[in-house]
Amino acid sequence: MSQNTSSAVMQQRSEPHDSLDDFPTQPWATRALCEHVLSGCYLRNKTVWEPTCNRGHMVDPLGDYFNAVWASDIHDYGLDGAFQHDFLMPFTPHVMKWAMAKPDWIVSNPPFRLAEQFIERARGVASEGVAMIVRTSFLEGIGRYENLFSKNPPSIVAQFSERVPMVKGRLTATGSTATSYCWLVWIKGAGNTKLVWIPPCRKKLERADDYAAYGEVAE
Ligand SMILES: C[S@@+](CC[C@H](N)C(=O)[O-])C[C@H]1O[C@@H](n2cnc3c(N)ncnc32)[C@H](O)[C@@H]1O
Repeated sequence: MSQNTSSAVMQQRSEPHDSLDDFPTQPWATRALCEHVLSGCYLRNKTVWEPTCNRGHMVDPLGDYFNAVWASDIHDYGLDGAFQHDFLMPFTPHVMKWAMAKPDWIVSNPPFRLAEQFIERARGVASEGVAMIVRTSFLEGIGRYENLFSKNPPSIVAQFSERVPMVKGRLTATGSTATSYCWLVWIKGAGNTKLVWIPPCRKKLERADDYAAYGEVAE
């Protein structure tokens, strides 16, 4: 069998150690979380904080399902209403009021190399649940097993049946990827880890204007 080595397919989201990991999430993947994974969580009157909001590609879809969305990022990408904040540092006064108010949920696509710390911090702040989209390979590793999964296993592992192409600095309607993603969800008081699959849903959940800012149209 011939191997597909096109640069899009080979995109591995590998970044220098100090990179911001600027790989935005296609909006349909966040809609898939709300429609297929959190559908029983009555999100309509809940608050959610997206602490790595970037250009708002998760913030927008979250706004369709939650009552209020708070947005921050370590870097200012120009998103209206977002605060600049390093999620792993002590809370600044702006952000303190959110942390004190305890958002019901924290939903994010954290920088890969800091995902474990993001999960730990988010679990300490959100009052109801935390959902993080991560590469499926995040599930393996002795360090992560010992530090995270053996002590605080997620309530739900939701594996995408489709690929979610992420490219640096923008959204793409057409890109492909060799990387598989899943949502990890921690819900306060939930029991043992449940493995679920997110059915094919990209076509249904994608909107024509999702990629408009990048001059692309959903296929
Ligand atoms: C993989 S991107 C995800 C962006 C956005 N959540 C999305 O999915 O479209 C990671 C984001 O984390 C931000 N980031 C990196 N380190 C951070 C930190 N310590 N605190 C807050 N945001 C951080 C980057 O600026 C970048 O926007």
